[in-house]
Amino acid sequence: MLILGIETSCDETAIAIVRDGKEILYSSLSSQLRIHKRFGGVVPELASRAHLESISPLLKEVLRGAKSSFRDMDGIAVTYGPGLVGALLIGVALGKSISFTLRLPWVGINHIEAHLYANFLSHSNFKFPLIGLVVSGGHTALFYMKELGKYELLGRTLDDAAGEAFDKVAKLLGLGYPGGPIIDRVAKDGNGKRINFPRPYLGKESLDFSFSGLKTSVLYYLRARGWSLSARGVLQRRIRLGRRSAFFGGGAQEVKDIAASFQAAVVDVLVEKVMRAAKIKKVKGVLLGGGVAVNSLLRREMRKRAEEGGLKVYFPTSELCTDNAAMVAGLGFIKLQAGERASLSLNADPNLSLGSREQR
Ligand code: KG4
Ligand code: ZN
Repeated sequence: MLILGIETSCDETAIAIVRDGKEILYSSLSSQLRIHKRFGGVVPELASRAHLESISPLLKEVLRGAKSSFRDMDGIAVTYGPGLVGALLIGVALGKSISFTLRLPWVGINHIEAHLYANFLSHSNFKFPLIGLVVSGGHTALFYMKELGKYELLGRTLDDAAGEAFDKVAKLLGLGYPGGPIIDRVAKDGNGKRINFPRPYLGKESLDFSFSGLKTSVLYYLRARGWSLSARGVLQRRIRLGRRSAFFGGGAQEVKDIAASFQAAVVDVLVEKVMRAAKIKKVKGVLLGGGVAVNSLLRREMRKRAEEGGLKVYFPTSELCTDNAAMVAGLGFIKLQAGERASLSLNADPNLSLGSREQR
């Protein structure tokens, strides 16, 4: 069964064709990084326009790349939430039109669930129940997965998402956008123990997250040491020279140490909460997904702690951690096979959630 997957929830226009929920025939995306970079974050209106411009050429490219035509498709899967409404609408409109014109079944896909499903494209033989952690630019959520499709929300961020914190701290440090990959790289030469940034565990039992205080701590740390960003976005420090003062750049090692110390704090909290959840729910395996799951320290620490605790831990490949349409097409196959069908009245839902909290 060939499924065409479409993903436009944020700043990547992505299309893929996947066979039987597993085999990626072709997956491609058009990144809007260049458009949003100078604003230091995604500008929703620009994102929708860019999706509109790139989606048709991308569709042609993917069909050609998979050596397929519309006639070979058995169904369509489209991300319909959560995300930016104007961005989601582009993908949903395309999915509906193809479905209507070619009389193909279609399903709406929850972007968060697709991030978890990305693991099923990279690995097999999962033993449920599992703990799932989605960490991306827009989401940080921890789930108990009884099986694929059954989720209990154990915890989520009360403010910033983990990826958002990476992006904001990179901006404070004048490192550029998107912050996650840059901090990951810069931190490799930094001392993560130099600054003991707060670990917001939110109490012994809580499985929720909070990252905005951590970001503020980085800001206060910089201010206390006289660092500020120049108009050109370069981190500089005012040095007093007698009665006068002057700005000096540099301080590269300190920036690396701050980046490494911030990253260590985020990773500590994420790993600790996953381990807590696994213990509370008595599971034997953990899935991670979303852009932050690319992070090298997170992968290393999670593997180490999981091994000590006798847990199996799964990460998708890097390309399948960040936004892509293969995870959408793959999950679409599972849903279509289970008989799920969307009607043409299904619309983009920017606030779509996944799972609910168990009543206590
Ligand atoms: O899953 P994704 O592509 O989009 C959303 O659904 O949000 O995640 C993007 C986020 C960005 O915040 C980016 O900075 C972060 O993932 N990210 C990383 C790394 N690579 C991407 N964060 C930490 N370390 C990385 N290596
Ligand atoms: Zn995502």
